[in-house]
Amino acid sequence: VLHFNPMRSAAQRQELVRCVIAFREFFVGAIAERRARPRDDLISDIIAAQETGTELTNKEIRDNCIGLLVGGNLTTSDLIGNGVFTLLTHPGEHAKLKTDPTLINAAIEEILRFASPVDSTARTAPRDMAVAGCPIGQAQVMVTHLAAANRDPKQFKDPDAFDITRERAAHIAFGGGAHICIGAPLARLEAQVALPKIFERFPNLSLVDETLVWKSLPFFRGLEHLRVRACSAPLRPPGASARALTARR
Ligand code: HEM
Repeated sequence: VLHFNPMRSAAQRQELVRCVIAFREFFVGAIAERRARPRDDLISDIIAAQETGTELTNKEIRDNCIGLLVGGNLTTSDLIGNGVFTLLTHPGEHAKLKTDPTLINAAIEEILRFASPVDSTARTAPRDMAVAGCPIGQAQVMVTHLAAANRDPKQFKDPDAFDITRERAAHIAFGGGAHICIGAPLARLEAQVALPKIFERFPNLSLVDETLVWKSLPFFRGLEHLRVRACSAPLRPPGASARALTARR
């Protein structure tokens, strides 16, 4: 996460370097271990692909493993956090989901659109070009704001409304083109399982009244923490007060 923070201090930078080295060493070890003793897992499959002719250097295997672990971590926990927050702040839509649990997939798509956990991505121009009339030189980097595109009134009717039954139009919360998120099916599945489980376990979940702190990192849209009050009715002894749970990452 420090990697994405342009405001990191000198001490944080040192910590970042230490972590990057440790992270690389961890995967170099894991890859060597799988090469010696393959298992039924992704790293072993990537090594098998390399050994059967796919052009992949050892460094590419290591860096792809790091990309998968990093890419699938903060993003999915933010999707779940943003989902809980958005449903609790839109009781009408939450009620629709409670009445018809088959709406869960549509609800996750609407959360991805309305509260996109990755709000931007970037592209490097392969040649001189113009985008919407704006000249871009070869090798210039463009930051593309996915969250803004996901609220585009030309694409979505009443874009600032959170509506889990809206007529489906394609959002771009997972990016697009050759670099579209490789983990999108897993991310969707995690949220489709986690959100119903949370609300099934804590049907009376409510927000604790406090100032929300959103992450200040560029690219990511998620809360630093989300305090909720959870009454787990079946397990609560008579007379016991509701517990305030703190969901921290
Ligand atoms: C809600 C969860 C997630 C969101 C919102 C998300 C979003 C994104 C976005 C916007 C991109 C950039 C796409 C582009 O530039 O066109 C991306 C790329 C990527 N994501 Fe995800 N992601 C999520 C979950 C995951 C998971 C679970 C994994 C892995 C298990 C993952 C792995 C990656 C990787 C490896 C890339 C780079 C793909 C490439 O450059 O070819 N992501 N993701």
